[in-house]
Amino acid sequence: MEFPVVEFPWLGSGTVIALIAVLHVVINHAFAIGGSVLMVGLEHKGWKENNPGLEQTARKMSKWILIITTTVGAMTGVGIWFATTVIQPYAIGSLLRVFFWAWFVEWIVFVTEVVLLLVYFYTWDRWTGAKKKWHIRTGVALSIASWLTMTIITAVLAAMLTPGQWVETRSFWDAVANPTWLPSLMFRTFVALALAVALFTPIMKMIVKDDGLQAKILKYFGKWMLVSIYFMIAFGAWYVFSVPDKAYSMIVWASGLQGKEQWFRMINLGALAIMLVMALWLLNRPRKVPIVVSALVAFVSIGLIGEFEMVREAIRKPYVVYDYMYVNGVRVDQVEQFKQEGFLTNSKWLGVSNVTEQNRLEAGHALYVAQCSSCHTIDGWRSKRAFANRIQGWDATQLSNYVNSLHNARYFMPPFAGTDQERQALAEYLVQAVKETSTAQQTAAKER
Ligand code: HEC
Repeated sequence: MEFPVVEFPWLGSGTVIALIAVLHVVINHAFAIGGSVLMVGLEHKGWKENNPGLEQTARKMSKWILIITTTVGAMTGVGIWFATTVIQPYAIGSLLRVFFWAWFVEWIVFVTEVVLLLVYFYTWDRWTGAKKKWHIRTGVALSIASWLTMTIITAVLAAMLTPGQWVETRSFWDAVANPTWLPSLMFRTFVALALAVALFTPIMKMIVKDDGLQAKILKYFGKWMLVSIYFMIAFGAWYVFSVPDKAYSMIVWASGLQGKEQWFRMINLGALAIMLVMALWLLNRPRKVPIVVSALVAFVSIGLIGEFEMVREAIRKPYVVYDYMYVNGVRVDQVEQFKQEGFLTNSKWLGVSNVTEQNRLEAGHALYVAQCSSCHTIDGWRSKRAFANRIQGWDATQLSNYVNSLHNARYFMPPFAGTDQERQALAEYLVQAVKETSTAQQTAAKER
């Protein structure tokens, strides 16, 4: 293995990526994609109906969109790159080999999007009258550019879950036109619109003081939301039915509600129903929607997209690229090689190249960091993943035997890729590390 491994002992690697990525997705979908559509839509409506209030509102939205997408949006976007490159260098390396030019194009499209947003924002006073058409066209181009960045990134994300024909052909176009690309792209498009309405509704309640104007805007939002929810459900269903069977069967588990299928159904259908009621309410009684309720709906919608991203990531286990590479960066076709030659022998950065009597614990630690820490911690906040919790009371032999059949015992774990001796060292280290944390906890408890 060719890269150093970075460990996040308390948060865990998954949580680090999730925190940055969910924030990014919410901002990108709600502000950059859905928000631009609503903004240009309002401007166009204001122009056609000769209603300066609508245009002023679109102008205010453009300021919010500009500030948020170029600060938190851009920083979390880059943040995802840093986090995933450090945590998943092998996966990023493989994806970069496949999507090299696509990524380059994505960068150009993103720069175009930012330039268009700046032009749009700074020409409100200049492109009026006969030039108004150009202002609106810039806005439309901006909406298309932000949607195109998602089109490209969604191809990469979808290929990770369903690489499809690519696994055999290794063709770029097979990777792009993979089975879940279109459904997930369409699903995300309407999620973006619904999310934008959910987030901008409380904002409108705050910043638009004129009652009549506010009602007009919210009614317009309501239409978008109603249509979006309808398509969101349709494309969402198509997407869910296109994921691999194994992944499909892990959805409820991935949401953390294993064994509570009714809860899973109730929570998700409930959240959708809340959004639907909101859409109808906006459409029919826009003046009557209380700001607190609209803020709550915004939170529910963020919760729903957050859940979707977490579930999508979790059902891909044990792979990072389905059928090709495991979460720990080991390729499916490398497992046998590492079992025979040894994992440490084939790793450059772990500081240990084989197991000896003197370095057993050190070697075990290296193996844990490289092969388990992408999902587990010794004593992190997610107790289900913390070894201190999961292997309390196990001895090294027991654990070593378990590790021998990791993938068979629990499908979502990759098989251990190393020699018997390495497996034994890993087990000894984990048992020792768990013993140390529980001793430390007892000492801390006594001191209290
Ligand atoms: C793809 C993520 C992933 C990787 C990589 C992974 N595990 Fe796990 N493992 C899990 C999850 C998730 C659970 C908890 C399942 C649950 O919710 O009950 C788990 C549970 C366990 C358990 C508890 C089993 C039980 O039945 O109580 C052990 C032991 C374990 N893992 C060992 C390992 C070791 C050792 C490694 C590294 C060689 C490893 N795992 C790598 C995801 C992973």
